Amino acid sequence: MQVLTTIDAVRTARARFDQIGLVPTMGYLHEGHLSLVRRAREECGAVAVSIFVNPTQFSPREDFSRYPRDLERDLRLLEAEGVDLVFTPAPGEIYPEGFGTYVVLPAADEVLEGAARPSHFRGVATVVCKLLNIVQPTRAYFGQKDAQQTVVVRQMVRDLNIPTTIVVAPTVREPDGLAMSSRNTYLTSEQRAVAPVIYRALRAAAQSYQAGERDATCLRQQIADLLASEPLVKPEYISLADPMTLLELDTIGARGALISLAARLGSVRLIDNLLLD
Ligand code: PAF
Repeated sequence: MQVLTTIDAVRTARARFDQIGLVPTMGYLHEGHLSLVRRAREECGAVAVSIFVNPTQFSPREDFSRYPRDLERDLRLLEAEGVDLVFTPAPGEIYPEGFGTYVVLPAADEVLEGAARPSHFRGVATVVCKLLNIVQPTRAYFGQKDAQQTVVVRQMVRDLNIPTTIVVAPTVREPDGLAMSSRNTYLTSEQRAVAPVIYRALRAAAQSYQAGERDATCLRQQIADLLASEPLVKPEYISLADPMTLLELDTIGARGALISLAARLGSVRLIDNLLLD
């Protein structure tokens, strides 16, 4: 496994492979990331993983400096998965002095995570665009847990004619249903014990949908009521939106819906979602 810190070294190493899959990450890897690595290996043969805590996708009041990092452990896990290339650039390699070009998708900033985290998707789209240009992967792999990120990345790739296929893999969950996330490590044991209510609430709404409920207001209310049963869990938004435009729905139609929410447990902000189709 080659561990590379410069763009030049990645370009040279990349040239050895015909097809390669890229798994972009911010490190502190968990089973969700590793499932993407395995899928990339199955589908592309060779796998590159980037580990870069991207400063531009954090707002000044967010957790950039305390975002969990453990490069040694990450490298051990990736080595065991047979990864070919790991790209771990310093911030100055990605954003050198004089850097001034960003990828902006204005519609993304109006809804869900974009509305809650101004400039977050500008940072995500910019860094993903740069990583795709640097590694030039055949396919790039993202988890469904960051649903809006997958919509943003797919649109950017389409709009900018980037010749990489975007693959979105299902959310990997703990046995009690909590979606895996590097941020779960911030939860106290008390918060961790109640966090699975998030998935239970999403599942309950999905079951109502399967039983024929199409009124989005009723489904949002059902989720809100279930979350209210755990006072430590404070919902920030509960959304039932069109899965492509992410605009809120009154009634769920033929395209189904993305049902998603963000909730705070103390200072920890968790997101999760399910697709209704
Ligand atoms: O999902 C993430 O970990 C990040 O948003 C990504 C895609 C690696 C970009 O920094």
